Amino acid sequence: MCLGNICRSPMGEGAMIYLLDREGLEQDVICDSAGTSAFHIGNPPDERMLATAKAHGVELVSRARQARPDDFYEFDYIIAMDKANYRDLKNIMPDDHCAKLVMMRDYDPLPKDGDVPDPYYGGQEGFEEVFEICMRSCEAFLNEVKNEL
Ligand code: 4NP
Repeated sequence: MCLGNICRSPMGEGAMIYLLDREGLEQDVICDSAGTSAFHIGNPPDERMLATAKAHGVELVSRARQARPDDFYEFDYIIAMDKANYRDLKNIMPDDHCAKLVMMRDYDPLPKDGDVPDPYYGGQEGFEEVFEICMRSCEAFLNEVKNEL
C-alpha cells in the first residue's frame, strides 16, 4: 500500500509475485496493491517505475485502486510503504480486522529510516532505490512468513 498506487506499491506487488514465482509459491498466495488516495484509480503504474522494473526483468501488471476496509478481512498482511500510509490505513481498519498491518521496511535487512521514499517528484535514482528496497524487503518478508502457508 502507498499513496497513489502507481509507483511504490505496484513495485512491491511485482517484487512479491516475482519472488513467489521463483519459489513455486504463486498458487499459494494472493497478492495485490492499492493506494490510500483516489488520485490515480484505474491507471497503470508510472512509466518510470515500469521501465525500472522491466530493466531488472520484473513485469508490473497492476491497475491502481483505492484501499478499502474489506482489505483487512481479505488479506493476512497489509504492508504500508511509509508512516503516512500506515496512519491512513489504520484510520480505515475495521475494529474486528484479522490482517496484520506492517511496514515494508520492517523487513529490510539494510539500515533504514522506516519509510520507502516516495519517488514521484524525484529523479530516476529514486525509482531504482524503490526497486532495490522492495526486492530485498519482500525476500526477507517471504522467508519470515513462508511457514504460515
Ligand atoms: P506512490 O507515488 O504513492 O508510490 O504511487 C505517488 C504517486 C502519485 C502521487 C504521489 C505519490 N501524486 O501526488 O499524484
